[in-house]
Amino acid sequence: MKAIAINGSPRKDRGNTATILNAFTQGMKDAGAEVEVIYTKNLKPKLCTGELQCWWKTPGECYIKDDMQKVYPKLRKSDILILATPVYIPLPGEMQIFINRLCPLAVPLLETREGRTRARLRDDVKIHKILLVSTGGWWEKENLDTVVRIAKELAEDMSVEFSGAVLRPHAFLMKKKGELTEEGTVIIDEVKKAGYDFARSGELSKSMLESIRRPLIAQEELLQMYNRALESA
Ligand SMILES: Cc1cc2nc3c(=O)[nH]c(=O)nc-3n(C[C@H](O)[C@H](O)[C@H](O)COP(=O)(O)O)c2cc1C
Repeated sequence: MKAIAINGSPRKDRGNTATILNAFTQGMKDAGAEVEVIYTKNLKPKLCTGELQCWWKTPGECYIKDDMQKVYPKLRKSDILILATPVYIPLPGEMQIFINRLCPLAVPLLETREGRTRARLRDDVKIHKILLVSTGGWWEKENLDTVVRIAKELAEDMSVEFSGAVLRPHAFLMKKKGELTEEGTVIIDEVKKAGYDFARSGELSKSMLESIRRPLIAQEELLQMYNRALESA
């Protein structure tokens, strides 16, 4: 199994998203998968200009010459696409640009499924599953719903399976002074296991995902923590 993971956090490997994503990809690698992580911040993808030349003039090819040209062949050869992103109401800009720039991989051979117009991936693109890793700062998991919807929509538009979402609300609480807390360590072990199992079975266990996104604190307590930080800032 070959996977490509795109981490859209501007904080790259210092971020909460990387803490979760790297554990997940480590689990995948332990199970024998080949995984490459790419940071959109390094990629600096240029804006899609909306000409749709990649659909009509030069099918499958984006005319914008930037580092995305190095990523397209990797995407074509990957079985799995992992999108990893913090919630930024809803996405960090470069992550949105990356998603827009996936257009050349799709062919506008449209069909209607459940009342919705859907394209599909080109025959030379191996990706058959998309999954999401996402972290947020607020308490409730519903706060990540918009990002889940975006990843799901992308998978449906490309006619590939959406395998699910590894979500971690109030992710920063997994660490104290830069080190994983006891509960943070347990969660990271679960994330590794989820990655391992996914590489083996191609599935994410619902109960494991629920455990990974469990509350680490009461909602009111987290609010007070934020508000105290504001007062003492
Ligand atoms: C511009 C901006 C918008 C954000 N919006 C939200 C939000 O709507 N909901 C949320 O839970 N967290 C929000 N956050 C917090 C981040 O999603 C959260 O801290 C995340 O874990 C950061 O991941 P990173 O360290 O990998 O960048 C926002 C942060 C920034 C900088």
